[in-house]
Amino acid sequence: MENEIKPRNSFTGSIGFVLAAAGSAVGLGNIWRFPYLAAKDGGGLFLVVYLVLALTFGFTLLITEISIGRKTQESPLTAYKVINKNWGFLGVFSFVVPFIIYPYYCVIGGWVIKYMATYLAFQGQAAVQDGFFTGFITAQWQPIFFTVLFALMCFVIVYKGVEQGIEKYSKVLMPILVIIVLFISIYALFIKYTDPETGITRTGLQGAAIYFIPDFKGLTIKKFLTVCLDAMGQLFYSLSIAMGIMVAYGSYMKKDVNLGKSVNQIEIFDTGIAMLAGLMIIPAVFAFSGREGMSAGPGLMFVTLPKVFASLGKFGEFLGLIFFVMVLFAALTSAVSLLEAITSSMMDKFKWERKKATLVMAGASAVVSLLVCLGYNVLYFELLFPTGSTGQILDILDYASNNVLMPIVGILTCILIGWVAKPQTVIDEITLNGEKFGRKTLYIIMLKFVAPILLFVILLTGIGVI
Ligand code: PHE
Repeated sequence: MENEIKPRNSFTGSIGFVLAAAGSAVGLGNIWRFPYLAAKDGGGLFLVVYLVLALTFGFTLLITEISIGRKTQESPLTAYKVINKNWGFLGVFSFVVPFIIYPYYCVIGGWVIKYMATYLAFQGQAAVQDGFFTGFITAQWQPIFFTVLFALMCFVIVYKGVEQGIEKYSKVLMPILVIIVLFISIYALFIKYTDPETGITRTGLQGAAIYFIPDFKGLTIKKFLTVCLDAMGQLFYSLSIAMGIMVAYGSYMKKDVNLGKSVNQIEIFDTGIAMLAGLMIIPAVFAFSGREGMSAGPGLMFVTLPKVFASLGKFGEFLGLIFFVMVLFAALTSAVSLLEAITSSMMDKFKWERKKATLVMAGASAVVSLLVCLGYNVLYFELLFPTGSTGQILDILDYASNNVLMPIVGILTCILIGWVAKPQTVIDEITLNGEKFGRKTLYIIMLKFVAPILLFVILLTGIGVI
């Protein structure tokens, strides 16, 4: 029972907290999904909509979850019960979400290591071959090997604890990530490529213009709503909301840290990296393959980008390497936050010590990860989702968490804090040390009315109703 007398672990201060939370928020969503949505949705228009939503909708949800964590000093599984004794079930939901996401996130993390290793071995040209990506993920052993490697890294960091593990690694990995992203995005502006077949020359700068300048051509109300919906869904995912993570990290935040200011910094970090990721990818892809290339969708990172790197010769190999190192850092700090959310839940619920909780959770997740890997070969099947897309085990887990459970957790959180416990619960926590809460009225309106409606629309789209 030593846990009961030990004080709760905490981040050493505001920087440690912000970098860890930003580490969670900045992930594959920023680097791979944000750029392709921006390209699809008319560049600048998407950016403006996204920014407005980040300052209102995203801010409301993020500050609410972090406050719940810091107020209760409990993990997601146990925190909601402290807010209201009848709402323990919401804790179970927000435990289940990271438990579902973590195993498949490790598999994708494994893919990233594979690409990094490929560039490290000067095999960048191989990554360009047709079928390289599919060949790899459908192979029997390799994906399992790389998944285990990635999961082991996460395990070590979480096993070491909040301060010695998560905070320490975030403080090293996140600054390096920022430097790499800045370097590649500036380089991308100067790319000049002449298509050997058509003889057309395109530059990165032209691509950047397409990215930033809003494209209103052919804009209809329906299209505009699609842009809003894309931005909303992306934002929700990008800030690691409704995954139990921000509750867990909030519970490690010291009471004297300025909560509102930290939330702003996390948002600036996350949005800044997403925007830069767009600048890193869109101009390069545009220069290489024009407008069509930009709509490559999900294959952008693993299929299109290696081609861009290959077209840049020896230096491209180097760019490919640092790019995938950066993606690995982004994925690692996000995966760590998932494992921490479920580990801390076990620690608080069953009073286990960290070592045991980490071992059990990592072990259980490894079994699911294995199934996800096998989903591309021995356990292969195709399932049709209500949204019209098809998928394997990874897609099922992704669908269950992102499209169904996460919006539900978000809606229920708004109802709990907005209507049952009342917004003052969170406001008290934000202004604990006499801090000013500038967006208070906006916050209350968003929390009680706007956010639940927006989340409901996300849910309906997610399950294919609209
Ligand atoms: N916020 C992450 C991103 O933008 C998503 C994520 C975080 C997913 C943590 C899982 C776990 O990619």
